[in-house]
Amino acid sequence: MSVVYLNGQFMPASEAKISPMDRGFLFGDGIYEVIPSYGGRCVGFTSHIKRLQQGLAALEIHCGLTEQDWQELVQQLMMQNGAGNLGIYLHVSRGTDTKRAHAYPKDISPTIFAYCFEIAEEPDANIDTAPRYKVITAPDLRWQRCHIKSTALLGNVMHHQQAAALGLNECILFDEHDFLTEGSSTNVFIVKDSVVVTPPLSHKILPGITRQLLLSILRQHSTLKVEERPVSKNEVLAADEVWLTSSSKEVAAVIEVNGHAIGNAKPGAVWLQAQQLFGQYKYNY
Ligand code: PDD
Repeated sequence: MSVVYLNGQFMPASEAKISPMDRGFLFGDGIYEVIPSYGGRCVGFTSHIKRLQQGLAALEIHCGLTEQDWQELVQQLMMQNGAGNLGIYLHVSRGTDTKRAHAYPKDISPTIFAYCFEIAEEPDANIDTAPRYKVITAPDLRWQRCHIKSTALLGNVMHHQQAAALGLNECILFDEHDFLTEGSSTNVFIVKDSVVVTPPLSHKILPGITRQLLLSILRQHSTLKVEERPVSKNEVLAADEVWLTSSSKEVAAVIEVNGHAIGNAKPGAVWLQAQQLFGQYKYNY
């Protein structure tokens, strides 16, 4: 039975209850994080908490927990759930009101929820055994505040479903000028002539922690050229390699976009180097 945290208490998941008047339920009015941990070691913990605090500040939700408080909460949660390979889900909604009204209510306390779920072993840098992702492309029909990690994920869910309905892994998205934004639940990188390229941060993409770690690691520990700049759809289709990054996938190789093979339809040599370095240095940041 998994143990979860809800509003100051640890309890069995079956005992965790919130009101249907919670604004997270009614409006998707909240912020979340997913942090990977292996054998009790979190990847990018401080960066995840910083992004959580920034999201809460953008929504003017005052939850009062410091990084130290989150650290203690997450440690407890991991211990109570066996400290194996766990994804840690943190969720803060604006809280429970007495009625449904759009304006932020005064004087309600946020609902703070955390639970963890088992995840696979740490991804391996191995061309033969690495997962191979097949994706489609679509116009990005989400909102204009994608830098906020909001629990209101219906836009992302609908895009993800476009791929899932075809038996594919991810839907990668393009803005109104056919420039790459991100995937429905991942950031996207391309490689062309050994140059690694990813779109710059903006309101159009989530500032992914894996993206940030990977950029730092490649810049500090490889001789690869790394660029943050707009990436056109034609560049994606003509890329030597395409990668997806996220907390659960780390660096994942795409072998097919819209039914067309990328590179030689196998994880590429630059991917191998990137995932190897990521595995080696991910706890140093
Ligand atoms: N998804 N872009 C979007 C839209 C995402 O939802 C995610 C993560 C990422 C990658 O961010 P990070 O590297 O910080 O995990 C990019 C999470 C894991 C999810 O919603 O489950």
